[in-house]
Amino acid sequence: MAKKCSSNPPSLNSKFILRNLWIVSACLSISPSWAHSVADHSDLFPTQAHWVLVDAKLLQQLKLEAAATEPNSRVSIARLNGADRARIAEAAHERGACGGHEQIQDLAPSTSTRDAVKWAKEHAFPQLAAGHRRSLEVTLQSSPSTQATPNTPSLPLNVGIPRAPGAADARIESLTRQVSETNIEDHIRFLSGFANRQHKNAATEQVVIQFRDRLTAQLKAISNGVNPWSFDLIRHQSTPMSTLRLKFEGQTPGQDVVVLGGHFDSINQSWMGGQKAPGADDNASGSANLAEIARLIAQAPRLQRDVEIYWYAGEEGGLLGSAEIAKAAQSAKKSVRGVLQLDMTLQPGSGRFKIGSMTDFTDANLREDLKRINTLYVGAEIIDDQCGYGCSDHASWHRHGFPAIMPTEAKKRDMNKNIHTERDVLSASSDLTHSAMFAKLGLAFALDLSGLASPSSIAQP
Ligand code: BES
Ligand code: ZN
Repeated sequence: MAKKCSSNPPSLNSKFILRNLWIVSACLSISPSWAHSVADHSDLFPTQAHWVLVDAKLLQQLKLEAAATEPNSRVSIARLNGADRARIAEAAHERGACGGHEQIQDLAPSTSTRDAVKWAKEHAFPQLAAGHRRSLEVTLQSSPSTQATPNTPSLPLNVGIPRAPGAADARIESLTRQVSETNIEDHIRFLSGFANRQHKNAATEQVVIQFRDRLTAQLKAISNGVNPWSFDLIRHQSTPMSTLRLKFEGQTPGQDVVVLGGHFDSINQSWMGGQKAPGADDNASGSANLAEIARLIAQAPRLQRDVEIYWYAGEEGGLLGSAEIAKAAQSAKKSVRGVLQLDMTLQPGSGRFKIGSMTDFTDANLREDLKRINTLYVGAEIIDDQCGYGCSDHASWHRHGFPAIMPTEAKKRDMNKNIHTERDVLSASSDLTHSAMFAKLGLAFALDLSGLASPSSIAQP
């Protein structure tokens, strides 16, 4: 992101190289295995060469040699050492783009130029020539490790109580009206009050547990007992932090589950950045929205389908928790109706009530569903936009073949520039009304897709 680039110092020193390699991995998000190779420091030697796909203009700018270039997209294959990749990352960030190159997992550093070019012509250049220029990431679709999928069709909707197509359900309307800005603010204050929620920090697990206990107490106090609910801590291979899951069981357990989620971890990536990562916007805000959605689902009529809410671990380390969860869901052939990601909802950068909806790594039909639900229950202005890379946990689900969407606080270029620094706090520019709109949208999405049972089954208090 431009913010992360703007603080880059001009000189190359070892800390700079380390940090930029980190940023490259964070921006590209190509797969957890790439994130691991960075995290375990095996990739940080300036002299270690790798085959990469890289923007040809950046190569030229830095007078580096390409092995071959795809002429339509102007993407080259080149063997670059760590120091050159750091310079590429810096140049890309100066242009306001992410990393500018992608390491090719399928090729070893020792692969010959001839074989590497042959690989590129077979696996990467055809897709690039066909117009997939915007994100280098799509070039890796052929790699089994990334498994990017085309938009998957979502299921037909309006299967709840019989009603005229396009008519609002009064019960959903009533619940969305009960979304509380004060509750959302309290949760954001609670979460951003910790020094950080960095996924590798042992103390973060305690924050997850405290949050679970806080929500458990709140749900116990207000739950109407209609939809059974339970919390789980999901342990991961790729991070010491757990993902927290809350499951509401519907009338048809395990069938066409509705998934909502947002990442719980935070990070400080500023130059000479310390340990402070309050992450109020990124992503205490989405986490707080999910907590408020949970409070209202606990008071909802009988759900037809399960609703699962995830507070993911290690998103900032490369979508770590969600990658494992989506992979397991794919292996288990889990049937998922739709996945909604809430990541950054606090700063109305494009204007109040204006929402960015990412069109990359998401499902076209589900985005239309979101627009319908917004029209019925929220009335925000939804503006299509792109991240340009797998910028949050929705991409994990998308890559594993599940329909996902990501409405977010603004268009990408207008988003909060203070994220990943100690300045991402509740402040005068925070807008709780704006944030609450995402809780309304997420709640209506959960209830609409789950399909509320007929009014006769609503429990009388
Ligand atoms: N909240 C951001 C994603 C984001 C930022 C979306 C700005 C839209 C605009 C997320 O937490 C994040 O920081 N993602 C990383 C990539 C991830 C794979 C580590 C990023 O954008 O650099
Ligand atoms: Zn972030």
